[in-house]
Amino acid sequence: MSHDEFPTDRPAVVTCGLPYANGDLHVGHLRTYVGGDALSRALETLGQKTAYVSGSDMHGTPVAVNAEKEGVDPEEFALRWHEQYEETFPKFGVEFDNYGHTHDETNTELTREIVRTLDEEGYVYEDEVLVAYDPEADQYLPDRYVEGTCPYCGAKARGDECDEGCQRHLEPGEVEDPRSVRTGNPAEYRERTHKFFRVSEFADYLTEFLDGLEGTSNARNQPRQWIEDGLQDWCLTRDMEWGIDYPGAEDDDIVLYVWVDAPIEYIASTKQYTERVGTDEYDWEAVWKGDGEIVHVIGRDIIQHHTIFWPAMLEAAAYNAPRAVAATGFITIGGKGLSTSRNRAIWANEYLAEGFHPDLLRYYLTTTGGLQQDVDFTWEAFQEKVNGELVGTVGNFWYRSLLFAYRNYEGAPEGEVSEEVVERIEGAIGEFREAVNDYSLRGVGQAATRLAQFGNEYIQRNEPWKLTDDEPEEAAQVIRDCVQIAKAVGVLIEPIAPGKAQALWEQIGEDGAVAEAHLEAALEAPPRNFGEPGELFEKIEDDRVDELEAALEDRIEAAATDETETESDDTGAGEDAAMADERDLEPLLEDRISFDDFQNLDIRVGRIEHAEGIEGADDLAKLEVDIGFETRQVVAGIKQLHDLESLPGEKCVLLANMEPAELFGVESNGMILAAGEEADLLTTHGESEVGEKVR
Ligand code: MF3
Ligand code: ZN
Repeated sequence: MSHDEFPTDRPAVVTCGLPYANGDLHVGHLRTYVGGDALSRALETLGQKTAYVSGSDMHGTPVAVNAEKEGVDPEEFALRWHEQYEETFPKFGVEFDNYGHTHDETNTELTREIVRTLDEEGYVYEDEVLVAYDPEADQYLPDRYVEGTCPYCGAKARGDECDEGCQRHLEPGEVEDPRSVRTGNPAEYRERTHKFFRVSEFADYLTEFLDGLEGTSNARNQPRQWIEDGLQDWCLTRDMEWGIDYPGAEDDDIVLYVWVDAPIEYIASTKQYTERVGTDEYDWEAVWKGDGEIVHVIGRDIIQHHTIFWPAMLEAAAYNAPRAVAATGFITIGGKGLSTSRNRAIWANEYLAEGFHPDLLRYYLTTTGGLQQDVDFTWEAFQEKVNGELVGTVGNFWYRSLLFAYRNYEGAPEGEVSEEVVERIEGAIGEFREAVNDYSLRGVGQAATRLAQFGNEYIQRNEPWKLTDDEPEEAAQVIRDCVQIAKAVGVLIEPIAPGKAQALWEQIGEDGAVAEAHLEAALEAPPRNFGEPGELFEKIEDDRVDELEAALEDRIEAAATDETETESDDTGAGEDAAMADERDLEPLLEDRISFDDFQNLDIRVGRIEHAEGIEGADDLAKLEVDIGFETRQVVAGIKQLHDLESLPGEKCVLLANMEPAELFGVESNGMILAAGEEADLLTTHGESEVGEKVR
């Protein structure tokens, strides 16, 4: 199915993966919630009717385990976090049209209704399954109560997810060498009766669904692989007390798996929004039961739930299918995943306490790398973005042009905008529209900053300060143009920096909310008069960043010593370093690239599965390389230099986002990295696994 471009005449809903109500919010969470917020604001700027909803995920073992650690009742525990999230999001400009939680009545009722439908339609059956059990604690061990080894990739895994490895969902009984998280004892497997959803029957439906799915490519490609490997049915129930009862089985000591009722909150939350504003304003049924536009923004660890289980559930219960799944990459710190328990994170409240404006972080999180790229957070990169793009480009243009306008004309001079500038603004509007349709927040940000950059060049090139005396009309024209550009930048940057855009809006004398302005406003004349503008962005000083970096480094180190896996082997590097100039080496490149540029290289650890020479080509070999998510065919100039038969099984390093090429009629989809004349193949020094990113 192909979709009409945004804006469409159907209502849209943007949702964000629900945060488990079990701990403090950090920058990793914010990347997704700010991302969803920016996307929904951008859709509205296009003129798309959009609701932005989410809620707290109250059930399941992620909440139960943490509540137990604190010795409090899970409901009380989860509600406490829920309230904190409700307070925190608006502080980052994340403004949900509705933010509910999965334990409220709307969601509980709707969940029961949907599960009843699945049951009545014949999509549910009962079966015996092996469930981990802790004999000492005399307790069944669903999901996060048990840890072991992933049967697919061998990584350490939780009962229901391979969170440190291949990211697959695991069914009860699948995790190998299970161990109780409660007591640390090896767990037994015991037979229990549970309810199952016939997901396997949806393979064809889901294949077609994925073909039409928009969003990020990882959300299409990974599930395709899982479908090819064969879909399993999905266990709908768990042996625990905290959660929503299976309808009709209220007396049994099982509840619905948290992943059943959690996504249903997307619908319930939309419904609550309609209940508040009325169906004329926004009709949740037109979206969820009709043909509205459903856009899910999630973290990349929950792709399987949103592209397999959830659409199968929606289809089985006769709901509308999602239009897009946009899966954001992880935020890492010091190259490692954020860890709440090890305090390897930048916390939401901590950021605010530093006194930085929320829009700075919003800009950094949405425009650093593409949506699906992992981003290593550093204060230096944050500073570079802020000082370079927000202070240097946007803020600088706004301030110098508005100040000049205020001093010489007390506002925007009368008259039309020149043709060149109208065209440039139209170009930026086009870039913005295209970026939204590509789910590219970086593209949205760039549409705005590039226009501001043009504004800087325009004012510099025309030098209005030299014209005011002798060529007053020309000077007025230049400034009229600049004020229009300033206003247009405000409209375009609002989805990403809503607070600063509103401040600009007020500076140029507009009333109302820039958030309600549509793209056309970028070309509409601003009010004639405005007062003296102030600077909207402030440079972040180096010593401030040095301090923050030092503190972060201490934190990273503390987190690392927490991890017992520290087998750091101290290699005596540096001994031969001085020999370089004796040999015939290529000179070093003078031009430096930014960290951002480096981030654009998707370099992965791979394993060569197969290697053979290409007929007719003297030097070329065709390799099949496993890179975790998929196997890539690449062509490499190593036929003479390596014994091809000995290569399978070898680890290598592959540039995965090299554009595909064809050599001697063979497609090459990636580039193997090698050093020197002998094509010494790069590999990794330690235990990093296939698919890991090189950073
Ligand atoms: N709480 C889940 C997590 O943090 C996300 C739930 S998203 C929903 O991984 F789809 F279930 F809503
Ligand atoms: Zn795995």
